[in-house]
Amino acid sequence: MAFVVCEPCRGCKYTDCVVICPMECFYQDETMLYIDPVDCIDCGACVPECPVNAIHPDTNLPEKWQAYVELNAGRAKELIALGTARVTEKQEPLARS
Ligand code: F3S
Repeated sequence: MAFVVCEPCRGCKYTDCVVICPMECFYQDETMLYIDPVDCIDCGACVPECPVNAIHPDTNLPEKWQAYVELNAGRAKELIALGTARVTEKQEPLARS
């Protein structure tokens, strides 16, 4: 099991979640964040931190967001390879009204 960042993060990136993560397993691209399922220890600490409720356990994911399991795993792997995409500090969120 792992936690998964879903659609509400897209275009948002509040990054409250990264500060609490004991494993530093969040990675970002220009649109959203992803959790590396290999490093995620399933603590769930990030879940209540997200103001838009974007993070869910892969075992209890809304049906419409099932694709985000593979998306998080795949993008995390690609972004880890870049070596510059890990996020551990809060950033300015993207504009969203
Ligand atoms: Fe995204 Fe929520 Fe984190 S909007 S960056 S999952 S706090």
